[in-house]
Amino acid sequence: MMEKTDRHYRYFARQLTTCALLYTEMITTGAILHGDRDHLLAFDPCEHPLALQLGGDDPEQLRRAIEIADAYGYDEYNLNVGCPSDRVQNANFGACLMARPAHVRDLVAAMRSATPKPVTVKHRIGIDGRESYDELVDFMRTVAEAGPTRFTVHARIAILAGLSPKENRTVPPLRYDDVYRLKEEMPSLQIEINGHVMNPHEIAGHLTRVDAVMVGRAAYDDPWILSSVDHRFFGQPYRSVTRRAVIDAMVEYVDRWCMAGWSARSVVRHMLGLFHGRPGARRFKQLLSGRFDEGSGAAVLRNAVANVPDRVLDEPAPCV
Ligand SMILES: Cc1cc2nc3c(=O)[nH]c(=O)nc-3n(C[C@H](O)[C@H](O)[C@H](O)COP(=O)(O)O)c2cc1C
Repeated sequence: MMEKTDRHYRYFARQLTTCALLYTEMITTGAILHGDRDHLLAFDPCEHPLALQLGGDDPEQLRRAIEIADAYGYDEYNLNVGCPSDRVQNANFGACLMARPAHVRDLVAAMRSATPKPVTVKHRIGIDGRESYDELVDFMRTVAEAGPTRFTVHARIAILAGLSPKENRTVPPLRYDDVYRLKEEMPSLQIEINGHVMNPHEIAGHLTRVDAVMVGRAAYDDPWILSSVDHRFFGQPYRSVTRRAVIDAMVEYVDRWCMAGWSARSVVRHMLGLFHGRPGARRFKQLLSGRFDEGSGAAVLRNAVANVPDRVLDEPAPCV
């Protein structure tokens, strides 16, 4: 999620789940071709499996961006066909590409020509002017000709004229049934559903109808929901992870990053939701988001948990 997640969030998320596929925020082909590549693309080995999400509308640029990114060892490349922002729309990519299914097919084909890794597409169920189920099917059948490994379908349309990106994540109604129907009618396609999935219980419900579930905001605001997914959805032996163990790992990580000259805040800002809904959560958040000397990041983290009861710190991940 742009301006929200980054490699530090993903490192933190990896303390809670080792199996769930993580995605980078959208990175434009232009940034990769002309920007600071290590800054944009480097990641910690623990972040695998990791998909790089690309924003772009030019086949050759997508191909070159993947050739560059491949040196970093990504596991999958994902094309963004869902972002409704004006900036992205003005550059002709993101959600507006839904109006050009044949072009998206060509983009996917170009991406596939650059890598043997899976190439996937994230899109909406429609955009203004192309809102019907039949148009969605037309989009997917056309793009499927290029052989993407998976479609991640955000189950609401994007309204490109008149709504902000934030409104576009809440105002258009969710149409989960359309996504279920896609899977029923095109069973050979791998379909991942997305949109307002809040917890593992809801994930389990969607998994009876589609192949996979993408969780965005809930995984950020209440990251503890990730702690049960390896066991519940990936068939892994139960691992009794605790928030205390997560904090210990992150203290060590913050120290390491600060020694390398990075800001502690850029790491700990992703952890504000770790105690979501539990005693001590408010004070933990306050302490981590207040003023502190960057050099004392690890100490601030330790101090912030001092207000959290031991029973919360040592609560094991749910074993369902
Ligand atoms: C701050 C923010 C940034 C986002 N950036 C991206 C992005 O870079 N790429 C993308 O595909 N979706 C992005 N999204 C959309 C989410 O991936 C997701 O599709 C949307 O929030 C609905 O899922 P959720 O209800 O689980 O959050 C972003 C969402 C938010 C809140």
